[in-house]
Amino acid sequence: MTTVMERVGRQQSAEASTEVIRRLLAATSTPDNDVAATIDHLGAEQTAHVLLDEIVFRSRFEEVTSLPDGRASLVLRLVHRERGLTATISVGAKGTYVHDGSTEGTAPDGELQPPIVSQEMSEVAQALYGPRELVSAATRTIQWPGREIVARSLRRLPPPPLYYAVAQRVVRVLDRREPADLTELAVRCGTDKWGALHQYPQHYERHFAPLRDRRLTILEIGIGGYDDPEKGGASLRMWKQFFPRALIYGIDIVDKRPLDAPRLTTVTADQSKPEQLIAFAERHGPFDIVIDDGSHISQDVITTFRHLFPYVRPTGGLYVIEDLHTAYWPGVFHGNDTDLSDPNYTVGFLKTLIDGLHHEEFLSSDAREPLATDTQIKGMHLYRNIAVIEKGSNIEGSPVAHMLREARTSGQ
Ligand SMILES: C[S@@+](CC[C@H](N)C(=O)[O-])C[C@H]1O[C@@H](n2cnc3c(N)ncnc32)[C@H](O)[C@@H]1O
Repeated sequence: MTTVMERVGRQQSAEASTEVIRRLLAATSTPDNDVAATIDHLGAEQTAHVLLDEIVFRSRFEEVTSLPDGRASLVLRLVHRERGLTATISVGAKGTYVHDGSTEGTAPDGELQPPIVSQEMSEVAQALYGPRELVSAATRTIQWPGREIVARSLRRLPPPPLYYAVAQRVVRVLDRREPADLTELAVRCGTDKWGALHQYPQHYERHFAPLRDRRLTILEIGIGGYDDPEKGGASLRMWKQFFPRALIYGIDIVDKRPLDAPRLTTVTADQSKPEQLIAFAERHGPFDIVIDDGSHISQDVITTFRHLFPYVRPTGGLYVIEDLHTAYWPGVFHGNDTDLSDPNYTVGFLKTLIDGLHHEEFLSSDAREPLATDTQIKGMHLYRNIAVIEKGSNIEGSPVAHMLREARTSGQ
């Protein structure tokens, strides 16, 4: 099946949708917020379109295969103050089509009507963008085609298989059940983070899984697709799937704006240029996670770290550097395969950060000037070809080092 996604009806820009989502993320973050009032403020129609796009994105209909007659539909009603938007999602061999309005009553003779899933918009917004423990299906109804049954759960019904695949995916999204782990998502989204070249998802899973339900801002440098503005974005879409409450940013030296989508914003910038990094970070930071998968040239990697690490959240923020092996490869990556500790190359630079992690243990006060990162890096996790640097206060004091320094200065 192709992954064509066509939206018939009113559309808004990715930027406008992302702004609506930013407000919904804030409105749904605590139980005492009035989500319905936020929807009044944003406009029910605009909100419904944003929710619908999110549901379609998360449902990953492109994975639905074996539709015997090549098409299955679902009518979705998003209700707000007794009014709302009805849309028909139609999944077929040629892609996914979303039409405003219902196709109820228009099925050809002998064909079943599509199922109708109806739910209050505020409850849907809460389910999509709020913390998992606040997800509810109290206002949901599902009308199954050809039956006089109205139910809240698909599980009680013997579903006709043709419709089931589409309805099941939508209901799963509304219930906030995301089945895929990162390796599965990496393969599905087509990023090279897993495959013949790399095995990164196992490490990402370890560090990212505990953050999955949080409200996050994530930046990845290097969008993919190189010179083609329409290509790439695989890993950005993977993060968007994996972190349902995150705003995702991507930086690339090539203009990738055709890939912009709700919750996913691309910005053109060269990671070797500090002023471009700072301008970007001032506008969109701070970040909970930064991933450097850009040029992989050591000088760029180090420049980027120096200028973006200050914009990583001070407690628990993560900074990831991929493809460390390029530091050892002369040629395209300008690496160094002779002096493996040279701090001008990524791995040698990381070794200096390891020293910094132990800055309180230095005995000679003039060993080197303290770096800003010394007190701000709490942990470093090094795996083959990838480093995960954890930001956090690194001031614990070292009584023994203090005592040894005193002894040195007093000549004992
Ligand atoms: C390996 S690809 C990124 C793949 C993507 N992160 C993924 O996992 O699907 C590297 C990208 O970095 C971009 N790039 C190269 N040099 C850059 C620079 N100096 N600044 C920003 N991006 C750069 C390239 O255009 C390319 O799209």
